[in-house]
Amino acid sequence: MKLLVTGGAGYIGSHVVRAAEAAGHECVVVDNLSTGLTKRISCPVVELDLASKDAIAQLVRLMKAEHFDSVIHLAARKQVGESVEKPEEYFLDNLGGLGNLLLAMREVGLKSLVFSSSAATYGMPDVDKVTEDYPGVPINPYGQTKLIGEQMVKNAEVWGLKGVNLRYFNVAGAGASDLADTAALNLIPIAINAIKAGKAPVVFGTDYPTPDGSCIRDYLHVEDLALAHLAAVEYLKGEGQQFNTFNVGTGVGASVIEVLNALKVASGIDFEIALGERRAGDPPRLVADVSRIDKALNFRTKHDLAAIVQSAWDAS
Ligand code: WQD
Repeated sequence: MKLLVTGGAGYIGSHVVRAAEAAGHECVVVDNLSTGLTKRISCPVVELDLASKDAIAQLVRLMKAEHFDSVIHLAARKQVGESVEKPEEYFLDNLGGLGNLLLAMREVGLKSLVFSSSAATYGMPDVDKVTEDYPGVPINPYGQTKLIGEQMVKNAEVWGLKGVNLRYFNVAGAGASDLADTAALNLIPIAINAIKAGKAPVVFGTDYPTPDGSCIRDYLHVEDLALAHLAAVEYLKGEGQQFNTFNVGTGVGASVIEVLNALKVASGIDFEIALGERRAGDPPRLVADVSRIDKALNFRTKHDLAAIVQSAWDAS
């Protein structure tokens, strides 16, 4: 298949492109290169900001020239804290960009879309494992843009779009040494940076109602996540497939302290761990129920926490 991958020069996007090419697909990337790096990928890259004024016209031209079979849309801003400070920019970029993309797809009759969503759509769920039907309420503008984005994808059924929303849980690791998450905005890269600087990684809160008191998340390997996109693209090719939303996680939770202990093993360094205060807005536990994606897409993750952390350390 020929795939348009927006945000394909980013940390997750570049893994998607590499996995797609390894599976025999052809990719063209659209990326504004705000955080993306062209050196991560070898396919054609069109530098374009999807939220810009002439984005629709440029996308239509590209789509008419390339005859894509499907679009994988990852291009978005993704920093929760920044979204609280600059909500308008998040709505403009994440939803304006998606709106322009959908308008261009509608104009050329391109009707297959995989949308990068997030477990941030669930807000503060109070369940052991969260299913896609859980009535989540996002607690920050980033999560709001993802939930509304999902609804935009669903609404486009009116003109025949077949769409899949993938709700990523905590993505980490690296599929290759040149594809590491360079941003250091999430637990594992932040902890690796601290260890390398000879500092103690900090646990944000040790008084949560969890076995060791630290927050539990569902960490999944970015290579597994990349394969979920390909499974979704194949699923959309099937006759009679309609809009669907899938959690992408492992279904297994790990606490912050467990992650840091795994990092001790991966790094071979017996570093100190600092016990800190809670961070505002953290749900104590956020773990995916993965039965829907397992059943509908026959998709399962292959990497466990040790492999995720090891790959992140090795690529750092
Ligand atoms: C994980 C756990 C922290 C840093 C966020 C977004 C979500 C998605 C993924 C998307 C939490 C704890 C962290 C540190 C710590 N974003 N922590 N010390 O908050 O689960 O999810 O990223 O695109 O929408 O909300 O991820 O990596 O920030 O934190 O103890 O130095 O690690 O409190 O429990 P989070 P995270």
